[in-house]
Amino acid sequence: MSAVPVRLAGAPPRETGEAPTSGPLVDRFGRVHRDLRVSLTDRCSLRCTYCMPEQGNEWLAKQSILDRDEIVRIARIAADHGITTFRLTGGEPLLRRDIVAVVEEIARIEGPEGPVRVAMTTNGIGLDRVLPALVDAGLTRLNISIDTIRADRFRDLTRRDRLDDVFAGIRAAAASPLRPLKLNAVAMRGVNDDELVDLVQFALDHDAEMRFIEQMPLDASHTWDRSQMVTREEILAALSERWSLTPVPGRGGAPAESWRLDGSGRTVGVIASVTAPFCGDCDRLRLTADGQLRNCLFSHREFDLVPVLRGGGSDADIERVLRACIWKKLPGHAINDPGFLQPGRGMNAIGG
Ligand code: 5AD
Ligand code: SF4
Repeated sequence: MSAVPVRLAGAPPRETGEAPTSGPLVDRFGRVHRDLRVSLTDRCSLRCTYCMPEQGNEWLAKQSILDRDEIVRIARIAADHGITTFRLTGGEPLLRRDIVAVVEEIARIEGPEGPVRVAMTTNGIGLDRVLPALVDAGLTRLNISIDTIRADRFRDLTRRDRLDDVFAGIRAAAASPLRPLKLNAVAMRGVNDDELVDLVQFALDHDAEMRFIEQMPLDASHTWDRSQMVTREEILAALSERWSLTPVPGRGGAPAESWRLDGSGRTVGVIASVTAPFCGDCDRLRLTADGQLRNCLFSHREFDLVPVLRGGGSDADIERVLRACIWKKLPGHAINDPGFLQPGRGMNAIGG
């Protein structure tokens, strides 16, 4: 009986065997990881239909949620080995009661290349009240999700009547020193695809960049359908009716491609995760609120840090889990393969 060799789709790995024990946080394809997305809670103040069921969502157990010391410890070890940017996500990160302290303690971490950056992705609700404290704590960047600027649609899409609270958050962000400020919308057919120009104009009015995201198969109710998806090409066609678009070169590893509007300094971004995947340049790693490391939004395997964190493990033990997780990263998400299987967790429990 011989073992069947495991073959990965796409380019063959440079090396097989064990993860390196020193040097940068690298995977088998040479991708160096610099960005850790930290989900602080799976709870949310909204119930976006594409993300969560209306009722009966299975929440993570309270005692399984990492506390601040655990999160900051992981962040410090990750920064020691080359993570330079931490993005705080959720669910909704502002629902975390110690959010200002989390930002403050992570922002104080110095990596080998200097202080780390701390960014946040939020739905904007409650941001107006807490933003000055977040800026003082060292927050460097903000992404605010807003899929529609029409109150009736917002209510249908998020199942909550809170568009005015989101507007208040965006106004506060516009008045803050945090730049570039980015607004994110998932483009959806029959939901907001007639609003793309208005959303860009809204972003311009708030000194922000609008970014449209192609919808990915991550919804809790597994209703994603490729034929319903609004593609990058359609988004660009809609915007071209109003502005002339010139591509901005030099995207690097960033998920968004940008275009200048009428040759100005103002830009719009598109995150074409489905029709133009950027996995080959991915430098991202994810930590869920309950202490699971994931090397991809779409991975089916998680690397559990809880036994190490709560079982007296050393910093070197945590580093080993980080390295093992990154080493196992697949070349791409395979959304476009016939055999694609959606991950078990919904977006709110993975982190955006
Ligand atoms: N596809 C694309 N983007 C998504 N988001 C949530 N679910 C999906 C999905 N299935 C977005 C949110 C937010 C960010 C965290 O991720 O709208 O902007
Ligand atoms: Fe909340 Fe974001 Fe999910 Fe909407 S997409 S329900 S804002 S976590």
